[in-house]
Amino acid sequence: MNMSDSGQSSQGPVTPQNPARPVAVITGGTRGIGLSIAQKLANEGYALALIYQRHHAQAREARDMLRRKVPVETFPVDVRHWTALQDTMSGIYKAWGPISLAVHNAASGVARPLLNTTLRHFDFTLEVNAGGLIGLAQAVVPKMTSSAHIIAISSLGARVSYPEYGLISASKAALEAIVRQLARELGSHHITVNAIAAGPIPSQTLSHFDGGQSWLQEFVEKVPMHQPLSENDVVQALWYLIQQKMINGQVLTVDGGFLTMA
Ligand SMILES: NC(=O)c1ccc[n+]([C@@H]2O[C@H](COP(=O)([O-])OP(=O)(O)OC[C@H]3O[C@@H](n4cnc5c(N)ncnc54)[C@H](OP(=O)(O)O)[C@@H]3O)[C@@H](O)[C@H]2O)c1
Repeated sequence: MNMSDSGQSSQGPVTPQNPARPVAVITGGTRGIGLSIAQKLANEGYALALIYQRHHAQAREARDMLRRKVPVETFPVDVRHWTALQDTMSGIYKAWGPISLAVHNAASGVARPLLNTTLRHFDFTLEVNAGGLIGLAQAVVPKMTSSAHIIAISSLGARVSYPEYGLISASKAALEAIVRQLARELGSHHITVNAIAAGPIPSQTLSHFDGGQSWLQEFVEKVPMHQPLSENDVVQALWYLIQQKMINGQVLTVDGGFLTMA
């Protein structure tokens, strides 16, 4: 991996006056909510490793924009390939040192009524959305600082049903179970593991679902403040969680109170 043109050299030597930058890894960090998280972390001075799958032009655009502020590198790695994740984390560690934050934000899946799905659809959706967190944790934990954080981006679908969302719902419920289990297993590493479960956010992603626009309308009608969520609401929740040491194994719901309304 060549990280020489990533802006790293402009940092100068690591001294008490010029400490190493914190390093963050974000799966799916090149667009949507992941990119908003990357922008916040860049503003806070993190060096950023952004993992994506196949939209190379968008990844380059995100990298070039963020590099005006901090060292940034992008990696086209399918999160279903755990050994590739391990190679990637080793490269990041060699170039930038220990990683203090890993965010599993990447998600994909087959949007269909469950009666029209196959075992292949199920495997694919679970492997990316839930399995990706296990692969990421296996790869990143040995390369993390003490008092590091792992955050998974979940959705309300882990707890409620939406049309055509059955496989993704199942994957997000599994993701939240994995978060609780990792929090237990990583206690001795002093690494916290939490999830953020967001409600529907106006985004390109929702256009992939037939009912996407009506989910947004229903959300705004029902939520107490009658306003939509934004990507920034998720970013703020993440920023809060990574300031905490004793919030662990939790799912922080970011839905403006939507689920509390009868
Ligand atoms: N949007 C919403 O309304 C909403 C609501 C609640 C929760 N969420 C959750 O928030 C997270 C981000 O959602 P979003 O709508 O911002 O996503 P998005 O715009 O669809 O972006 C998905 C990102 O994940 C990457 N990715 C997908 N499959 C991958 C794989 N197998 N390996 C590596 N990277 C992969 C994509 O890379 P490429 O660009 O290369 O494809 C892209 O960077 C997801 O976990 C989602 O479930 C979203």
